Order: sequence, then structure tokens, then C-alpha cells
Amino acid sequence: MEKKNIDWSNLGFGYVQTDYRYVSNFTGGAWDEGVLTEDANIVLNECAGVLQYAQTVFEGLKAYTTEDGHIVTFRPDLNAERMMASAARLEMPVFPKERFIDAVTQVVAANEAYVPPYGSGATLYLRPYMFGMNSVIGVKPADDYQFRLFCTPVGPYFKGGAKPLTIRVSDFDRAAPNGTGDIKAGLNYAMSLHAIVTAHEEGYDENMYLDPKTRTKVEETGGANFLFVTRDNKVVTPKSGSILPSITRRSLVHVAQEYLGLEVEEREVLFEEVKDFAECGLCGTAAVISPVGKIVDHGKEICLPSGMTEMGPVTRKLYETLTGIQMGRIPAPEGWIHVIK
Ligand code: PLP
Ligand code: COI
Repeated sequence: MEKKNIDWSNLGFGYVQTDYRYVSNFTGGAWDEGVLTEDANIVLNECAGVLQYAQTVFEGLKAYTTEDGHIVTFRPDLNAERMMASAARLEMPVFPKERFIDAVTQVVAANEAYVPPYGSGATLYLRPYMFGMNSVIGVKPADDYQFRLFCTPVGPYFKGGAKPLTIRVSDFDRAAPNGTGDIKAGLNYAMSLHAIVTAHEEGYDENMYLDPKTRTKVEETGGANFLFVTRDNKVVTPKSGSILPSITRRSLVHVAQEYLGLEVEEREVLFEEVKDFAECGLCGTAAVISPVGKIVDHGKEICLPSGMTEMGPVTRKLYETLTGIQMGRIPAPEGWIHVIK
């Protein structure tokens, strides 16, 4: 298979249109068979539920070329399950797990020419999503839905790759108590746009959101969960009902405990404690693990002792082990790697 002529090592996190995407429609109370199509455009009624009341959920996962030349994805079953939970919360029909995994397999295989080569630093990002299709004018769920899955080759989410980030504590909340912070709905990202645009204008890479009720506990950023490392090498990660249950974070907890023999605490993390941590990282499919060097709270700077030049030592070990598993250099736990070819 001849690869596309793409400068893989210089890709950012952007959209590159690829050849095939998967589409399945839900009408009359049932999903159709689903097909691959070359048509990247969607024609919608002006009153479609997604356009009026933001009835849409999505997922994000990646395909990798392994060291020995296979193409694999990482824990797609967990993305399928999380999308089912997201859909149920927004009164949408669920797209069955085995069909989700089949769609992943079909799209990656059909776009093999876009799967970045091993060692290029790039990966193929997969974006499954679902939305309300038919006209909806009173506030209610749509009757008809579309599931789609496209892919795009991507490089690092944050410019500068592994250089530690500077983030700020946001004055805006990302999720309401008892709201939708724990699902992957487009609406959570729409309401974070103002916060991210102003953060960038002010020179920050991302926002740290605190818990909306008391504003004393660390939640997550706009697109990743937090991992902290204590000065005695314990991994600490915030537990909250209003953050997205990151698959990367859940995997890293296992990696920390089972591969690296580290103690892990999943618990509420007070913002007050952050100044005492040795390392901080943002973890997610897009972010992988991106180190944080500085956290600014209304002018007050917390500088992580791991510094602003490179990843801290524990973060690095976590990063190398996780990416080693994803790229086939390190044996994976049973069921983590879905081989496409
Ligand atoms: N938190 C938010 C708000 C996200 O958008 C993402 C990205 O998917 C994550 C966390 C990380 O989740 P995952 O590791 O499953 O990609
Ligand atoms: C992902 O990591 O897959 C996400 O969806 C995060 C998004 C900010 C790109």
C-alpha cells in the first residue's frame, strides 16, 4: 500500500480530508446497515435537531502503525461504551458497540494510505459522532439520527510537542454540577470556546477548570484530564462526577500500578494542594500526556519543580510506557490493542 505524500513529521492537530468515511442512519426506530462513502459533506434540513438544540455527541481515538508494521487502534471498546453513555444522556439512540468497532475497522482499513508510518510522530485520529437529523422546533429529541466516523492524520495537539505548557485557572466553568461534564457532548466544547480563545490571547495554552460548585477542587482542562505526581512519586488524579472519564487516564492508572509499580490515588484534588506536586500532565487521546510547567491563578504563579524545559521523570516513564504499548514495543494488557491489519 503506497502512503499518501504527506509531511508526516510536521503535521499539527488539524483536519486533512481522507478518502473514506462511514455513515449509518437511524430512521423509523432502527439503524441501517451503514456504508463507507467518499462524500465528506452532509446535507441537513435547516431545522435539524443538531442545529437547533445541539443534540450531538462524539468520540476521539487513534490508529497507530506498530514497530512491526501492523495497524492497530487502542481500546475502541471503551470509546464505544462511552459514546453509548453520552447518547443515552442526550436522549439519542445508542450505536451498538460491535458496530462501532466494525466502523472503526472499516474506516482505518479503507484509509490505510493515510495511516502515518511508524516513528513519524503522527497518528491517524478517528472521530466518530452522532447527531439529530430531522427537523425539531419544540425542545425535544430528534427522531432520526446519523452516526458518522471519519479520520484525519494528526501530529501533536499542543504546538511545541513535549515542551511543558503554561495553563491558567479559568474564571469560567466547564460543567454544571449534575450536568453533562461526564459525557462527550459537543455542547461542553461550545461553552469552552470563549475560555480557550481568551486563554490563548493571554498567552496560555489551556484552562484549568475547578469544580463549579465550590471552586476549590481541580477538575480537568477543555480537552484532557489531569495527572499529578507527588514529591514521593505517587500518581494522583482527580476524581469527580463532572469530568470526562478519560480512557487515556484510566489506562495510565493501570500502567502506573502494574507496569511501573507506582502508587496511584484517584481522589478529589484540592487546588490548594497543586503547589506541592512535583509534576503535572494533561492526558487524553489528542494530548497523549502533555507536561505542564506552570499554572497561573489570577497572576499567582505555581511553577512545577519538574520545570519548563522537559517532561518530569515519572511523566516521561508513563508516556514512554503508554506509547510503547500503543506502538507495539511493549506487550499490552489483554484486550487493549485492536489489530486492523
Ligand atoms: N477530558 C476532555 C474534556 C476531553 O475532551 C478528552 C478527550 O477525549 C479527555 C478528557 C481525554 O479522554 P480520552 O483519554 O478518552 O481521550
Ligand atoms: C480527544 O482527545 O480525542 C478529544 O476529543 C479532545 C479534543 C479537545 C480534541
